[in-house]
Amino acid sequence: MRVNRIVKQSQKWPFMIALALMLNIQFAVGQVQSRSTYPAPVIIPSSESWDGNDGSWSSFVFQIGTPPQTVKLLPSTASYETWAIDPQGCQPGDLPNCHTLRGELYNYNASSTWDPNLSNVTTDIYPLELETALGYTGKGRYGFDDITLGYIGSGGLTLKNQSIATIATKSFFMGLLGLTPRSDNFTSFNDPLPSFMQSLQNQSKIPSLSWGYTAGNQYRLQKVLGSLVLGGYDSSRFVKNNLSFSFDLDNGLAIGLEAITTGTGQALLPAPIEAISLDSTLPYIYLPTEACTQFETAFNLTWNDTVQLYLLTDAQHSALETQNPSITFRLGTSPNTVDITLPYAAFDLNASWPLVSTTTPYFPLRRAVNNTYVLGRTFFQEAYVITDYETGTFSVSQCQWDNPLTQNIITILPPNATNSTSPATTVHKLPTGAIAGISLGGAAIILVVILLFYLCHFRPRRERQRAAELEAKPPAHQETTLKPEMADTSVASPVVYEAEGTKIPIPVEIDDGERPIYELPAREAAASEINSVNEPREIIERRNHVFSKAEKQVLSPVSALSSKQMFSPVSAFTP
Ligand SMILES: *[C@@H]1O[C@H](CO)[C@@H](O)[C@H](O)[C@H]1NC(C)=O
Ligand SMILES: *[C@@H]1O[C@H](CO)[C@@H](O)[C@H](O)[C@H]1NC(C)=O
Ligand SMILES: *[C@@H]1O[C@H](CO)[C@@H](O)[C@H](O)[C@H]1NC(C)=O
Ligand SMILES: *[C@@H]1O[C@H](CO)[C@@H](O)[C@H](O)[C@H]1NC(C)=O
Ligand SMILES: *[C@@H]1O[C@H](CO)[C@@H](O)[C@H](O)[C@H]1NC(C)=O
Ligand SMILES: *[C@@H]1O[C@H](CO)[C@@H](O)[C@H](O)[C@H]1NC(C)=O
Ligand SMILES: *[C@@H]1O[C@H](CO)[C@@H](O)[C@H](O)[C@H]1NC(C)=O
Ligand SMILES: *[C@@H]1O[C@H](CO)[C@@H](O)[C@H](O)[C@H]1NC(C)=O
Ligand SMILES: *[C@@H]1O[C@H](CO)[C@@H](O)[C@H](O)[C@H]1NC(C)=O
Ligand SMILES: *[C@@H]1O[C@H](CO)[C@@H](O)[C@H](O)[C@H]1NC(C)=O
Ligand SMILES: *[C@@H]1O[C@H](CO)[C@@H](O)[C@H](O)[C@H]1NC(C)=O
Ligand SMILES: *[C@@H]1O[C@H](CO)[C@@H](O)[C@H](O)[C@H]1NC(C)=O
Repeated sequence: MRVNRIVKQSQKWPFMIALALMLNIQFAVGQVQSRSTYPAPVIIPSSESWDGNDGSWSSFVFQIGTPPQTVKLLPSTASYETWAIDPQGCQPGDLPNCHTLRGELYNYNASSTWDPNLSNVTTDIYPLELETALGYTGKGRYGFDDITLGYIGSGGLTLKNQSIATIATKSFFMGLLGLTPRSDNFTSFNDPLPSFMQSLQNQSKIPSLSWGYTAGNQYRLQKVLGSLVLGGYDSSRFVKNNLSFSFDLDNGLAIGLEAITTGTGQALLPAPIEAISLDSTLPYIYLPTEACTQFETAFNLTWNDTVQLYLLTDAQHSALETQNPSITFRLGTSPNTVDITLPYAAFDLNASWPLVSTTTPYFPLRRAVNNTYVLGRTFFQEAYVITDYETGTFSVSQCQWDNPLTQNIITILPPNATNSTSPATTVHKLPTGAIAGISLGGAAIILVVILLFYLCHFRPRRERQRAAELEAKPPAHQETTLKPEMADTSVASPVVYEAEGTKIPIPVEIDDGERPIYELPAREAAASEINSVNEPREIIERRNHVFSKAEKQVLSPVSALSSKQMFSPVSAFTP
């Protein structure tokens, strides 16, 4: 009897396992489709160093040109251009380590793949069209060259012939990686190249036109590097809230600001602001003058008109450290608001050359020009922003500081992803080791069933366990939470870095507001052009000007996406 029962069971098992595994095949094919149709998100490699003259910022590393030149860039949530520092950006009168301070230079001249942008036949120098509403101006040399992610030899992704501008102006001290896609038809010249993000999407390197970014900081968990994921986000870095906001490319990531309060309940914003930009290009928080006045009173700040910063004396600095205020920004529109709280440490930044001649602590608040309000990079130290250009939505979340932070990359799929019913026609794109060779054909299923009989006779226990495991896993979860291969190699826990000591520029005397004398090759008209507006002084003067909105809008990219996508209703991000 007993023998009989065992025989019966062993006859049932193959059938059950075949059933389970057929389910498994269906599930596997679903995975094949999503994997083959959509690439994994791209994690931008951190330089693992801290750079900048307006604070210490976690930069990201790229190679440009042939042979490759390594540069460190900061992400700009408002720009669609990639900027690197031109050799003209460091002059004989500058600090000797100027090139290091600025994240290293990119000498287009030394790159065999550099191709100047001669849309304007007479020159490759064009005005920089970023933060013009805040009074920033300058010129860049535009062209095309190859960009590779990561340090040399790290095997990072390469994009050929990308649009790049080299800048000399010191008002933008570091090079930038623009995260905004550019519209197809925006330009006064014909045929503009797509932005870096669009190139990635066009070449199917990212699953969707989207990103997740937080700036990192030096005051949490013994320094936390910035995190930038394209086509996804790192869910380990923030506290989920279920709010998402819609935007259109013309206005950037604009959100309402309902209130600013200190930890002790003091209100610092006299009236709500309808739209404030989440813009990581600059560190500053631009608020209405009345709000700045409230800050001045609350924290005993004094505006230094010469350098256009709230510089702190040692006494003011230590008083603030003692006071240690936290500041909460209530974003959104009632009742859909999210609170982001910044500790004083987030505002405790140092200004250094060429903003000031001696490294000085300052408070990164500025008086708004022309009703242009901004939450700058300072804010991104404690906020995680996810932006999806395909649905025209973004979310803002408070960062979380679990120790250790264990990276968990979530893919953002395009809006029509779930409607995909086409069979796995791109099996060749399967990652190695994946369920290759599985076909939907009946022959394949029969083959598998035969294989199953073989397997269950020789390795029944193992298969049973596997079937049970697979049944336990919800496939939908698997499909939307693909972990890229890169996830393992990326920094999961905080890394301790050496103190900033070596990077603090030696105090030198700079011409107090006067232009340093640049030695320019006389024949290189372009060089002098690109240098002509690179003084902070000029920026300060310009800042006081009134900039027309019309001017800004000409430069605003018009959506390349369908209006239906851009104005889709506010919705939460999947999953
Ligand atoms: C470009 O190369 C030429 C020839 O080697 C050199 O004279 C010129 O100074 C270089 N320009 C820059 C900006 O490096
Ligand atoms: C091309 O550049 C020259 C020199 O900078 C400038 O005068 C001219 O207006 C530019 N052309 C266009 C179409 O912008
Ligand atoms: C790079 O792109 C620009 C703009 O499309 C084009 O004019 C140029 O020929 C390209 N260069 C190379 C080397 O492909
Ligand atoms: C770009 O395209 C949009 C929609 O097709 C159109 O409304 C807009 O006027 C265009 N902009 C330019 C500068 O051509
Ligand atoms: C060259 O640069 C200018 C200024 O940014 C831009 O408007 C133009 O579209 C670029 N040309 C190409 C072919 O990308
Ligand atoms: C990439 O861009 C080229 C040129 O604009 C276009 O023909 C092609 O369809 C694009 N590919 C994808 C996948 O968007
Ligand atoms: C999500 O939204 C609902 C209302 O729509 C709210 O009751 C709930 O508290 C929210 N959850 C979180 C985590 O914010
Ligand atoms: C505010 O700062 C000034 C220095 O700028 C200092 O003299 C003054 O005592 C401070 N006031 C308070 C209330 O801390
Ligand atoms: C403003 O800052 C500069 C540079 O640190 C300093 O020389 C100047 O005295 C300051 N001005 C005021 C009014 O504090
Ligand atoms: C996906 O399918 C749903 C339901 O069939 C439909 O409402 C939606 O518009 C589709 N999305 C796209 C992008 O086609
Ligand atoms: C989703 O939409 C994009 C653009 O609208 C299209 O290129 C892509 O093929 C679509 N994907 C699927 C799976 O339908
Ligand atoms: C700046 O202010 C002027 C006058 O108040 C206004 O016409 C213009 O639209 C404003 N520009 C911006 C960019 O806000």
